[in-house]
Amino acid sequence: MFYRYVLKPIFFAFDPELVHDFMVSVGEFFGKFALTRWLIGLMYGYHGRDIWKTVDGITYKTPFLLSAGFDYNARLMRILPCIGLGGEEIGSVTAKPCEGNPRPRLTRLPKSQSILVNKGLKNDGVEAVIKRLKDHVRHGLFGPCRTLSKPGFVTGISIARTNCIDSVDIQAGIDDYLYSFRRLNEENVGDYYTINISCPNAYGGEAFITPELLEKLLTALGTIKCLKPVYVKMPINIPWSQFDSLLKVIDTHKLQGVVIGNLNKDYNSLDVRSEAPAEYRGGLSGKPCASLSTELIRKTRQAYGKRFTIIGVGGVMSWELAKEKFDAGADLIQLITGMIYEGPGLIRKLCVGYSKEKR
Ligand SMILES: Cc1cc2nc3c(=O)[nH]c(=O)nc-3n(C[C@H](O)[C@H](O)[C@H](O)COP(=O)(O)O)c2cc1C
Repeated sequence: MFYRYVLKPIFFAFDPELVHDFMVSVGEFFGKFALTRWLIGLMYGYHGRDIWKTVDGITYKTPFLLSAGFDYNARLMRILPCIGLGGEEIGSVTAKPCEGNPRPRLTRLPKSQSILVNKGLKNDGVEAVIKRLKDHVRHGLFGPCRTLSKPGFVTGISIARTNCIDSVDIQAGIDDYLYSFRRLNEENVGDYYTINISCPNAYGGEAFITPELLEKLLTALGTIKCLKPVYVKMPINIPWSQFDSLLKVIDTHKLQGVVIGNLNKDYNSLDVRSEAPAEYRGGLSGKPCASLSTELIRKTRQAYGKRFTIIGVGGVMSWELAKEKFDAGADLIQLITGMIYEGPGLIRKLCVGYSKEKR
């Protein structure tokens, strides 16, 4: 209620990127102190019955994760566990630091419960993110466990190719992914990795969403020793035949699973089409992603049984919409836009819904 009637009207009166940066700074600050973590936990934490879930050998305190793109520079790892999240996907990180696309990078489309994202993979680069993750460990902010993250709060790391003219060339793009993947494995940071092949708003487009080029990319990544689960973040605007051909490549390379999926490029999916004129740039998050991603989750589960771990993401604005994704075959759920429109209290609602369902 406080978020919906007090904070949201204030936030929505300002530029979305400004609000995002402000919230990340506030979240990072609150994460530093036991008192603020306790207070946020009291307000927004999930205190119900146990809903831990183990997927690919990793135990998530709850099956709900913050999706890639919100905490792209790894600054919120201390505060996010307090609001009922079982993990987060940091990034997408790229080999080189990246300024992102020219502003505006984010536009709210409130009538359609969506955000037009034209961020263009803005991030500090893989080395800065590795340093931040290792500093967390050095300062004792995470307990001892199998990897660097706090037990029960999982940190996945999403990897994309740097959004610049130099990495448009296919081999240069592969080398870019390879650099980040190698460095993350060398430094042993993160619990799982996601290869993001479906960023719709970067130089060179989604080059690796053809089976031939995905094959090339995964062959190159396969030369690096990796003991953690690896997932591929899938596009949602391609026909099933192409989607399936990508799944076959992922299967051949013995990766653990897929994240379904990324932003929606089809502006006709908006409830109110006029909210995003054609000259706008970027992909749609939120409600326009919901049914497209759920259908792809269902088809993947039907076609491949238990072969793949499926992380379902796109338009989870309520427990009912999360349940649709679980019912379709998702093992875990990620979200961003639902949290922006409904507030952090949405996570507790998802946890409560899940715990009732599992009773
Ligand atoms: C502000 C913003 C930035 C995003 N940046 C990334 C990114 O860097 N990498 C990525 O794989 N997905 C990115 N995404 C896509 C989300 O991870 C997610 O797939 C998509 O928003 C659908 O989920 P949602 O409807 O819950 O927001 C971004 C989404 C938003 C809203």
